[in-house]
Amino acid sequence: TKKGRVFSGARPTGRQHLGNYLGAMRNYVALQDEYECIYCIVDIHALTTVETTQELRANTYDMALDWLAVGIRPEESIMFVQSHVPQVTELHTILSMVTPLGKLTDLPTFKEKVRQNPNNVNYGLVGYPVLMTADIALYRAGLVPVGVDQGPHIEFARETVRSFNYRFNTNVLIEPQMKVTEVPKVLGIDGVQKMSKSLDNHIELASTPEETQKRVMMMVTDPQRMRRSDPGNPDVCNVFSLHKIFSSADEVANINVECRRAGIGCVDCKKLLAKNLNAHLEPFRARREALNQNPQQVWDVLHDGAKRARELAESTMRDVRAAVGL
Ligand code: ADP
Ligand code: NA
Repeated sequence: TKKGRVFSGARPTGRQHLGNYLGAMRNYVALQDEYECIYCIVDIHALTTVETTQELRANTYDMALDWLAVGIRPEESIMFVQSHVPQVTELHTILSMVTPLGKLTDLPTFKEKVRQNPNNVNYGLVGYPVLMTADIALYRAGLVPVGVDQGPHIEFARETVRSFNYRFNTNVLIEPQMKVTEVPKVLGIDGVQKMSKSLDNHIELASTPEETQKRVMMMVTDPQRMRRSDPGNPDVCNVFSLHKIFSSADEVANINVECRRAGIGCVDCKKLLAKNLNAHLEPFRARREALNQNPQQVWDVLHDGAKRARELAESTMRDVRAAVGL
């Protein structure tokens, strides 16, 4: 009696950080209560930008471990690795035949990637949204949880599915809907840029309490507050932003007053955040540690997920091949 099927994919980025947690993982867990969820570690997508594939497997494992520890329930949801279901590449190729090239090169995300790295524009990078469409369509997912910035990709997926159905006079593929989720944009410890592993401004979920405290102590606070005696402005402080998520209402209210009159210093404020963050992550870390005792079990979850995903995929592909006339 679930309300529909959700699909979401994320590239295998290894150990997850607070940005991934607040921006995606927490939501993945919550969606399971109402939807049939399919969560995919998109390792083929990662090949478009990854320079060396040596760490791909380790990163896939670490991410799967984090997903399980945070509360993805693999008996009820499907959690798997994209490349374990090769049907996705077949659907990608077929969908590419109904995709005007100009539409891909016009996408803002593509233009941004070209700007960042003009010497590495491979064919796979151009086709990234087609592969993403194939992921969603293959599992006939009706809903894709995304932030608003992913709007153009979902719109592209809808148009591509529509083109396919029109071209082959069929309705075997389902047009996905965006499920816009309001997630905070988590800033890194620099207090300016989005938290990201590649910027090394992140706080890992699976760190030790000591490492976590160390990272929190490095956080940039209100840059106008130079001395302990200066009043601070919590509204521009990323430590305060995280207090609002991880500390009690009383603590937040207290900091909001005391910071503004220099009643509390940044050091004490950070120590409290580190303490609360560590307390929040403690059950996650314990579960992760327990799961990590038996890596084979994590791979078994992924392989079982792939088996269930392949059944759905093959059923879709039978309809697709028939519709196309292959
Ligand atoms: P991908 O490219 O596969 O989306 P990322 O590691 O960039 O991989 O992000 C994985 C998920 O975590 C995405 O849903 C993304 O929106 C979310 N996320 C990553 N960093 C942040 C951040 N700093 N703040 C909020 N959400 C984030
Ligand atoms: Na991203």
